Amino acid sequence: MRIDRFLQLNTPHSRQTVRGLMAEGRVLVDTVVVTDPRCEVGQFSRIELDQQVLQATPAKYFMLHKPAGVVSATVHDVHRTVLDLLSNDDRQGLHLAGRLDLKTTGLMLLTNDGSWSRRITQPEKSFDKVYRVETQDPVPQQAAEVFRQGIYFSYEDITTRPARLEQTGSHTSLLTLNEGRYHQVKRMFGYFDNEVINLHRESMGQIKLDPKLEPGQYRELTQAEIATV
Ligand code: URA
Repeated sequence: MRIDRFLQLNTPHSRQTVRGLMAEGRVLVDTVVVTDPRCEVGQFSRIELDQQVLQATPAKYFMLHKPAGVVSATVHDVHRTVLDLLSNDDRQGLHLAGRLDLKTTGLMLLTNDGSWSRRITQPEKSFDKVYRVETQDPVPQQAAEVFRQGIYFSYEDITTRPARLEQTGSHTSLLTLNEGRYHQVKRMFGYFDNEVINLHRESMGQIKLDPKLEPGQYRELTQAEIATV
């Protein structure tokens, strides 16, 4: 929203008075004097009037190495949640940008920035996710071609987008998906009656799980990582 509108809503001043205050250089946005009432501010802009802070919510972005047995939800009656792995301060206001099943391990992204996480999770956006998969039975020979063509999911009445399968061993592979359907990896291998016994997410878009993070550990994203979304 515009800064003059923000100040009108968050101070006792009329829009006209607000413009006068701005012209006098008494309004700061992100520590810079702003005189143009049309200046756009957002959820994470720091806004000050006469040295009084009216809004200062820092945007937060974390990656976390999800261990097995921890639920990717913000609250749960039975299991620990991924939020329980963050410090009290860090976890305030966070939500998850995508989910993983209880037993799945690997990269999870958490933020308080809804427009950032929507860019990751919106189905129509192209955002690759890479999974390391281990299956009960050998990887079927035709799997790469079938996954490339897409598999029909009758429940959603959709055909999965072309996915890339790279076999890394007799029972192991790297699978790159461009969408995130419910239990998608398990259901794709389920097409061949082949159970997924280990599943690990390595990356989301250009953000790769930091190999220095042990299961359960997390760190802030770098500015460069944030900017890739
Ligand atoms: N696909 C699955 O089946 N499970 C996950 O946790 C992620 C993708």
